[in-house]
Amino acid sequence: MLQQHFPLTDRNTLRLVSEASAYAGFRSLAELIQLQGYATRAQLPLRVLGGGSNVLLSEKVNALVVQSESCRIQLVMQNDEVSLVDVDAGMNWHQWVEQSIAFGHGIENLALIPGTVGAAPVQNIGAYGVEVGEFIDSVTGYQLSTRQLRTFSAAECRFGYRDSVFKRELRNDFVILRVRFRLPRRFSPVVSYAPLNSLNAAEITPASLIQAVTDIRMSKLPDPANVPNAGSFFQNPVVSDECARQLAARYPDLPVYAQPHGAKLAAGWLIDQCGFRGKPFGPVAMYEKQALVLTTSAGATLADVRALQKRVQDSVYEKFGVWLEPEPQLFA
Ligand code: EPU
Repeated sequence: MLQQHFPLTDRNTLRLVSEASAYAGFRSLAELIQLQGYATRAQLPLRVLGGGSNVLLSEKVNALVVQSESCRIQLVMQNDEVSLVDVDAGMNWHQWVEQSIAFGHGIENLALIPGTVGAAPVQNIGAYGVEVGEFIDSVTGYQLSTRQLRTFSAAECRFGYRDSVFKRELRNDFVILRVRFRLPRRFSPVVSYAPLNSLNAAEITPASLIQAVTDIRMSKLPDPANVPNAGSFFQNPVVSDECARQLAARYPDLPVYAQPHGAKLAAGWLIDQCGFRGKPFGPVAMYEKQALVLTTSAGATLADVRALQKRVQDSVYEKFGVWLEPEPQLFA
């Protein structure tokens, strides 16, 4: 049902104060197309919201905001090696991870990431050495500008570190309806990444790996239900090898991860070194146990978040000469 002047404060995990001109959930392509018709008549852009866990909402969103309410899981094909499984965009990500192990493996390391299945490919969610793009066969959705149903192969999704075509050329133009996963049936856990590397590889089962990842995340990251946040607020910056070498020489403790091109630095460490960890700035702060996570308290707005973002960016740039880019996307 379409509702006017709809509060979005409860629909974003940062709990930023926000209101949409109009809002509706949809359960099918036909309903989405109907909503597009309404938006055109009302001269409102149409914006799709997933779990609201990676967005920065402005106080007034002058749009018809839609959210998928479909959460079917359908086995498409299975042989000895792989399962192909279609999952609707509205499915809760963590619930899908828990159910995925009945079909195949690979996404256990992505347990407890907040959000929906439809949002997962947009920023190519990743944790503990795994990125979702590695297990996606294709993504199907509706392109608003051309009014076409389109399917993108994994290669066409152009997955990168927290990046995909859906964040770039197709930004605000593509409503993901379902994701087809390609899950190997053999369980070969990725436990090379700290702190999973302390697990005994021989004893790990898919369910125990999900549990281990869940425990680690619960100990390090704030639960959005209690402390509003959007996970990592900045991306880990990728710099040239030369820049990484110079910084590592000056700061031997700086965590540096080699990449195919250049090196990734731990943004949390850089922010921590600038003294932001646990220090409140009005209703926003960088989290006391993980300086990469921005948390809010009641009444926080996008302006509060932007002010702290800028302070952090400027301080890190001044001290280390590295510019941090925010991870959550503006939703205005
Ligand atoms: N560190 C500090 N101080 C801090 C925070 C971190 O010194 O306040 C140091 C840690 O000690 C560690 C390093 O920085 O040596 C990296 O920290 P961590 O292992 O917590 O991982 P991260 O690089 O901060 C990334 C992802 C997370 C993902 C974890 C685990 C990004 C932007 N973030 O964080 O993803 O869960 O690795 O794989 O790539 C997310 O994207 O929302 C997210 C939570």
